[in-house]
Amino acid sequence: MAAPDGLQERLEYFGYGEADRALLAELRPLLEKHADALVAAFYRHLLSFAPTRRVLAAPGVKERLLVKQRAYLLSLAGPEIDEEYLRGRRRIGEVHERLGLEPAWYLGAYAQYLSLLVPLVCEALGRDPLRSERTLTALHKLLLFDAQIAMETYVERRERDLEYLNRELAATGHRLARDYEQQSRELRHTTERAHAAERLASLGTLVAGLAHEIGTPMGVIQGHAKLLESAVSGEQARRRLQTIREQIGRISRIIESLLHMARPTRSTRGPVELAAVLEDGLSFLSEKFSRRGIAVVRSFAAVPSVTGDAERLQQLFLNLFLNAVDAMPGGGTLTVSALTPAPDEVEVRVADTGRGIAPADLPRIFDPFFTSKPAGEGNGLGLAVAQGIATEHGGRLEVESQLGKGTEFRLLLPLAGAPGGGS
Ligand code: HEM
Repeated sequence: MAAPDGLQERLEYFGYGEADRALLAELRPLLEKHADALVAAFYRHLLSFAPTRRVLAAPGVKERLLVKQRAYLLSLAGPEIDEEYLRGRRRIGEVHERLGLEPAWYLGAYAQYLSLLVPLVCEALGRDPLRSERTLTALHKLLLFDAQIAMETYVERRERDLEYLNRELAATGHRLARDYEQQSRELRHTTERAHAAERLASLGTLVAGLAHEIGTPMGVIQGHAKLLESAVSGEQARRRLQTIREQIGRISRIIESLLHMARPTRSTRGPVELAAVLEDGLSFLSEKFSRRGIAVVRSFAAVPSVTGDAERLQQLFLNLFLNAVDAMPGGGTLTVSALTPAPDEVEVRVADTGRGIAPADLPRIFDPFFTSKPAGEGNGLGLAVAQGIATEHGGRLEVESQLGKGTEFRLLLPLAGAPGGGS
């Protein structure tokens, strides 16, 4: 049930009217006479309980409180109860709530005032019992009214604080949920990468053994095919032998890449100027680009050099460029940029306007032997090797693609001094 609506309704409900006010106004001389003694007794009462004593401990509080209590006592002498009176009483509730004073303490204090005031009133008006009774009733009404206002203010304040706390709690909850989601995403990402690295490592061991086993007979077949080529006379037979040698050459190159991936050669690390490496790679393929109708856009910011193996990084970029060429059979634009997204990191972006990668294929493109090209046209090692090189350099290779629009690879490398970066 809601509290009484307006001041008028409150007063009516309390039964406080003009007659009460007039009776209390008669108490002024009595209150003035005893104010100091009453306030002193009240203060002693507050000092005799540890929790109220603690609230009074700060310097200057006693002096201020005695003055305010005196004023409060005198204000009981027939006050006009209007909006201003109400504001003043609310303020008492607010101040006590801010002090952390639970209602039990100050409600008890109203009772204390009553027990100090009642004997005084009885003594002064004892000869007129009816008047004495009415005056005491008016005093009770007024003090209860004050206590009610103080209580109400206390509850309102508490509710507001709780509401604020609730909102804060909800906001913190949202923040936590967001952080948790982000961390889970990162963890998933890292786990996926760790699994891929694991797969690559076990595959590497297998491949190294296999490459060794296959390499030797391949060499023998190659040698024999070469001998036969000069021994046969028919043009067609010679062409076939040539095809055999070409295909064996292809197998050998695959095996070489596999070996490289399985046991990367000891890299020679030093400062690498990325812009120069990128420029070399692009000019190496410039003829291929123009044959395929591919325009190259360079956007190299002045990025600091990274620590790494220039040759291995060159291989990485060539693989990305070749991948872009394959993705744009009908021509397009290859944009190569270098930038510094963070003080401890450089980024190289290789973007094409080619056919893009199907969302279902995206998670597998760094897997060795994964290829979307027709059988016989690609070995599916280029991107796996590229990622291996990125990892060797403490970096990572990321991809974003839109089917029919193009693909962008982002190589992120730590700078010297950053965790994962060389010295
Ligand atoms: C009959 C009950 C009480 C009444 C009518 C009363 C009245 C007042 C008033 C009028 C003020 C001044 C508010 C302002 O700054 O505008 C005040 C402040 C204060 N009251 Fe009470 N009070 C009561 C009970 C208590 C109790 C039980 C304590 C417990 C120790 C207490 C401690 C204080 C303190 C520490 C201040 C702040 C003094 C300062 O630092 O300025 N009061 N009170």
